Amino acid sequence: MTDLLVVAGARPNFMKAAPVLEAAGRAGLACALVHTGQHYDAELSDVFFAELGLPEPDAHLGVGSGTHAEQTARIMTAFEPELRRFDPEIVVVVGDVNSTLACSLVAAKEHYAIAHVEAGLRCHDFFMAEEINRRLCDHLSTCLFTTSRDARDNLVAEGIPDERIEFVGNTMIDTLLRSAEAARSHGAAERLGISAPYALLTLHRPENVDDERILTGLLEAAAEISRETPLVFPLHPRTASRIDSFGLGGFLDEPGIHACPSLGYLDFLGLLAGAALVLTDSGGVQEETTVLGVPCVTLRESTERPVTVEQGTNVVVGTRRDAVLAGARAALHGERRPGQIPELWDGRAGERIAARLADEIFETEGTATANA
Ligand code: UD1
Repeated sequence: MTDLLVVAGARPNFMKAAPVLEAAGRAGLACALVHTGQHYDAELSDVFFAELGLPEPDAHLGVGSGTHAEQTARIMTAFEPELRRFDPEIVVVVGDVNSTLACSLVAAKEHYAIAHVEAGLRCHDFFMAEEINRRLCDHLSTCLFTTSRDARDNLVAEGIPDERIEFVGNTMIDTLLRSAEAARSHGAAERLGISAPYALLTLHRPENVDDERILTGLLEAAAEISRETPLVFPLHPRTASRIDSFGLGGFLDEPGIHACPSLGYLDFLGLLAGAALVLTDSGGVQEETTVLGVPCVTLRESTERPVTVEQGTNVVVGTRRDAVLAGARAALHGERRPGQIPELWDGRAGERIAARLADEIFETEGTATANA
């Protein structure tokens, strides 16, 4: 008998799912984990399982890469029989990747209850695949766990009943707080031959890296910053391939740029904690820098995580070369905003989620017994 069927598929899912699995196990819930295989490279998947202490998946769908339609369809087709096989009380999906939406759609059509971890985030930009994924998933979910108070307002404004929503905090931050000490002593900076002060850059959004003009402007800004402060640049496979196909590899030869393949969780978190400045187009990194008190310059036009700007260390500057440079210089040389840790980002979100899910399941079982 399976109480929770937890779905994870891509890099940012793993650190969000781990605390839920752990806390649910402690609460006596029987959990199974499905890995869709959306991410399959060792550095985007295996290393996270090892470093986060995630159990071996109970099912691996092995779907791999493809267009959005191909990937989503393959996940749906492969997930359906697994869902029937495990027949859980609740399907738990996290974040906003294609795996999140694909499995929610299957679960909803098979009449399973769905819990969405990290519900209600909105950037109002429908060109982002994640905005489509998170909106649709929220509307299919029966239990919506939010990371910040503004997320509830977004959901209620879209007509989602208030009683389905629970503000629990941030499971990605549970994982960060648990791993920070190990990450700091993991030695990534030494292995890369870099010492403080340094900046850290991550780029992977298709909106940025698939557009030659935008990517060139961002790399020009990075090169300029690297002449003032050494800049570490772990390359997502998509970014590495675009730099190669646009013939922009010369930027990686800049003496101040330390390019390297995608890093494992502890290496990346260690570098993040020691950075003087982070430049990123990632959603999760905006939250992690907020908690670590590291200045973050977000290379996008909007953010679905406004709490990181209002309370944290984040500034959203867009993708134009001059705006990026101005943002980076202000963060490096200007007055440092201390930032505040958002409410309930206290390392206990997984526990709150497990408690609520246990209530849901035991209540349903109680009703079933009473009706028997
Ligand atoms: C996905 C998520 C994004 C998340 C990101 C983190 C969607 C729509 N996007 O984007 O929200 O922030 O993961 O990394 O779900 N590739 C590999 N090895 C892998 C996986 C992918 O080389 O293990 C390459 C393939 O060329 C693939 C490309 O990366 O086509 C993109 O992978 P995909 O999973 O489609 O999206 P991401 O850009 O990684």
